Amino acid sequence: MEASDTLDRQSESELYFPPESIQQNANAQEYDKLHAFSVQDPEAYWGERAEEFSWYKKWDKVLDDSNKPFFKWFVGGKVNIVHNALDRHLTTYHRNKIALIWEGEPGDTRTFSYFALHREVSKFSNVLRSMGVKKGDIVTIYLPRIPEQVIAMLACAKIGAIHSVVYGGFSVEALAERIQDAQSKVLITADGGWLRGKIVELKMIADEAIARQGTIEHVIVVKRTGQEIYMEAGRDYWFEDLINLPVANGLNAPTEVMDAEDPLFILYTSGTTGRPKGILHTHGGYMVYTATTLKNVFDIKDEDRWWCAADPGWITGHSYIVYAPLLVGATSFMYEGAPNYPYPNRWWRMIENYGISILYTAPTAIRGLMRFGDSWVKRHDLSSLRLLGSVGEPINPEAWKWYHTVVGGERCPIMDTWWQTETGGFMISPLPITPLKPGSATKPFFGIDADVVDEEGNPVKAGEEGYLVIKKPWPGMLRTIYGDPDRYKEQYWSKYGNMYQAGDSARKDEDGYIWVIGRIDDVIKVSGYRLGTAEVESALVSHNAVSEAAAIGLPHELKGNAIHAYVILKAGQERTEGLEEELRNHVGHEMGPIAKPDQITIVDSLPKTRSGKIMRRLLKARAMGLPEGDISTLEQ
Ligand code: WTA
Repeated sequence: MEASDTLDRQSESELYFPPESIQQNANAQEYDKLHAFSVQDPEAYWGERAEEFSWYKKWDKVLDDSNKPFFKWFVGGKVNIVHNALDRHLTTYHRNKIALIWEGEPGDTRTFSYFALHREVSKFSNVLRSMGVKKGDIVTIYLPRIPEQVIAMLACAKIGAIHSVVYGGFSVEALAERIQDAQSKVLITADGGWLRGKIVELKMIADEAIARQGTIEHVIVVKRTGQEIYMEAGRDYWFEDLINLPVANGLNAPTEVMDAEDPLFILYTSGTTGRPKGILHTHGGYMVYTATTLKNVFDIKDEDRWWCAADPGWITGHSYIVYAPLLVGATSFMYEGAPNYPYPNRWWRMIENYGISILYTAPTAIRGLMRFGDSWVKRHDLSSLRLLGSVGEPINPEAWKWYHTVVGGERCPIMDTWWQTETGGFMISPLPITPLKPGSATKPFFGIDADVVDEEGNPVKAGEEGYLVIKKPWPGMLRTIYGDPDRYKEQYWSKYGNMYQAGDSARKDEDGYIWVIGRIDDVIKVSGYRLGTAEVESALVSHNAVSEAAAIGLPHELKGNAIHAYVILKAGQERTEGLEEELRNHVGHEMGPIAKPDQITIVDSLPKTRSGKIMRRLLKARAMGLPEGDISTLEQ
């Protein structure tokens, strides 16, 4: 802890200036004045941005804040995000530009022009319509990182259906719970996906999840691996069969006209307590916000090849693989598999092969690849790279410097973007003209009024730790938690009344640079993935040997945090040999491999408050050998 803290503080005075050539050509040429204007008059700033899109009908009002915190943006406007992401490119030179280059883990490749992607999306939207999917229905998507994932999401949005994407690394219970909450009737999955040379058994997991809940009527299965799988007659259909059925008017599938505030998707994420919550985003505001942030922060130019190495199953992929790049007419690259398969040069080889100019990834991936040494990177010509990006957790200065020096050849500034599933897009981030400090996400984006405050909501002094808040609404913000508006209010707006509470702690330095420290709630970031202690605990308790469980995150060199769990066994349950391993595997089966605790400790009791709440903070302090802090509420 202490060593990294010293490093952090050291880098506060270290400044890296983006090369002149990058600054001069940057899409954003000015920060201070424009930021000041944009937070003073957000309606003017966002209204201007919204003009850059094609609307079926223009909005009557940019922001409606009459029912706080249920803000509405571009009220009265008619639009569809897919109309802007695909349809409108067909009448420009983008029609034949490459929208998506994809490489599978086994090495197979596919490429889609804007025309071709539009064609596939149109075909699949016909399929969905013919299955009875209508505007407002929620379709669950559970796919590997293959082009059909993008196609399925866009096809839903095109017909006004709401997609709920479940990350392909999640497992049975995580999937069942999300389908149940959304009451989806249609599930889109695959016969498997490739990861580290092995098949991820998505269909088998899906079958088990469907058996646990009762809403799914149709399953559409993409053939990815070609392995034999179980197909239930009358319920399961092959994607390839459906998409090739002729439909009258086939390629001219109409794009549904939506209200700007109509839901585009829900994406489940972990919160402070209990079940994952469905974060809801809309067509209009999310469209304007994601495109504006991508264009300014990553400086997208027509000739760029953009690679966001996330998974579309998380918000980073939703915003910056699927929607924003298409909205700005970019060429994206997408890769199916593991970064070090079959060798640790896989990513670098692809950057060289495809001439990637911007790479956006997570600190955990950088640390993971750094561990294999510089020589794997140096085998390849990475001179096509111009900008780098980081997201998901604070980047430690050591990883930052390696990324900057070895990967970026000291010429590529690193855009360290702080944001959340809830925010829709980048909130605090450098621009390619911003002097950088390794480990700081620097300053708020245009229109974003961010601050660090104390318990009472007053700004803390420079250098002091406090709570990260956003003081004004922005177009990309979540609108609610699906089916639970009270929880939305309580979770994000209750503490200070009129400020969005992010759930992170942070500090601001003398130069106004923001340093995000980490979560202050029961969310654990494992390898950049967002998990809740509650989900891991309920997976443990669902095992018949366990009566109670507590999960915490402890610092981990590669993953950022690793899950440690403490369990109390049921009365009469033997501590059998290998039980810990069995419990770990059980969590993997229920939640997914990423949620597997690194360590499980069987205990006789757990520290609790007098009201019966597990004191995870205390468990963490004890595990790390830190002072126990205030234990006055501890039941002795
Ligand atoms: C953390 C991911 C430090 C933070 C886009 C936040 C970061 C949570 C950064 C949201 C960053 C994300 N520096 N911390 N650049 N980016 N975080 O919803 O704790 O999966 O609250 O969204 O990730 O995670 P989520």
